[in-house]
Amino acid sequence: MAKIGIFVGTMYGNSLLVAEEAEAILRGQGHSATVYEDPELNDWRQYEHDHVLVVTSTTGQGDFPESIAPLFQTIKDQLGYQPGLRYGVIALGDSTYQNFCGAGKRFDALLAEQHAQRVGDVLMIDASEDPEPETVSNPWVEAWGAQLK
Ligand SMILES: Cc1cc2nc3c(=O)[nH]c(=O)nc-3n(C[C@H](O)[C@H](O)[C@H](O)COP(=O)(O)O)c2cc1C
Repeated sequence: MAKIGIFVGTMYGNSLLVAEEAEAILRGQGHSATVYEDPELNDWRQYEHDHVLVVTSTTGQGDFPESIAPLFQTIKDQLGYQPGLRYGVIALGDSTYQNFCGAGKRFDALLAEQHAQRVGDVLMIDASEDPEPETVSNPWVEAWGAQLK
């Protein structure tokens, strides 16, 4: 069973709700899962040879919420190479904005650049189509968790 850190970037709590439901689903599958609401590099480092699930919305013009912006920047500045890390991304956004799911896409691009291995596709949830994001994320998380050992 896998050890999974769930790293959250949220403004109004939608991503946190998605993350908390993901935590419950993954635990139900027998994994160990922990949500980090104001994640720091030390939290991230515990998963160097395990799994992380990034759940982040996008604000401003393709920007990260304040809760996760410092983590993204420190990973970029201080890590560089993470070949032992396996990850997934759930990106919340709204397609009426220009940079749809921009923050989630940037996190995925950074981790790929640092040689982490993504499990599954990035899930993008469009608030203008799905006002209850957990109805989209829950089945995705079930499938994602089933792929982990
Ligand atoms: C001020 C503001 C700026 C936003 N900018 C973007 C954006 O650039 N791209 C995008 O895809 N969504 C954008 N959104 C939509 C949010 O990402 C979306 O509503 C999301 O579900 C919020 O989740 P949260 O409660 O976890 O922050 C923006 C929303 C607000 C209120």
